[in-house]
Amino acid sequence: MNSMKSIKLSMLAGLAVTCLLLSVLSQRNTVDAQEHGAKSRPAAVFEGQDTMLRPEGYREWVFVGSSTGLSYLPNAPADGESKREDIKHVYIDPFAYREFSRTGKFPEGTVMILEVARAATKNEPGLQGSFAGEYIALEASVKDSKRFPGGWAYFSFTERGGKSVAKAKPFPEGACLSCHQKKAATDHVFTQFYPVLNAARPK
Ligand code: HEC
Repeated sequence: MNSMKSIKLSMLAGLAVTCLLLSVLSQRNTVDAQEHGAKSRPAAVFEGQDTMLRPEGYREWVFVGSSTGLSYLPNAPADGESKREDIKHVYIDPFAYREFSRTGKFPEGTVMILEVARAATKNEPGLQGSFAGEYIALEASVKDSKRFPGGWAYFSFTERGGKSVAKAKPFPEGACLSCHQKKAATDHVFTQFYPVLNAARPK
């Protein structure tokens, strides 16, 4: 009788464990499906091996920081008449933001956008200061180690005269990656200047 009871009990326990496992697994599946959903509209779209199409919809991504006059270049514009500083806005794609918040790392496929606006002023009695006026440049970085030997690649979607372009080839590593590799705080990304990412990082 006792042994029957214990067999029944252990069967019940087994059943409970199976139910628990199943519910955990089905929760995982839901997460995977959501992740998959996010991934099925990738933030970066490539033509062939490395030609990136101009990113779309990034103004709906997560805005991580802005700056003005920030530069490591020794030949930053000298004081003078032409010293009107641009205003830069930085965004990250939402999937990468969520992963970074969870793990503190940028996942494969991370896309970051640097959009530059000309600082503008308005002649209005009582008004001071400047604001982001006309957009003048759009750059992107993409983490994709399968595509790019350096792990990250850097693109510009603006030609010299300010005209926007529909697609771009990555810059050679010396032009962009090397400064990002040396000076940026987290895996080529300048998180030291992005308060939103620092607040999101797991403690
Ligand atoms: C001498 C250093 C340096 C070089 C070279 C450089 N960058 Fe950056 N980059 C920065 C700094 C500093 C930031 C921080 C954001 C800011 O300036 O507001 C940044 C930010 C960015 C961001 C936002 C995401 C991130 O990684 O933080 C992109 C995209 C970007 N740069 C693209 C480029 C591209 C494209 C090139 C090459 C044409 C380039 N960068 C070359 C210093 C550099």
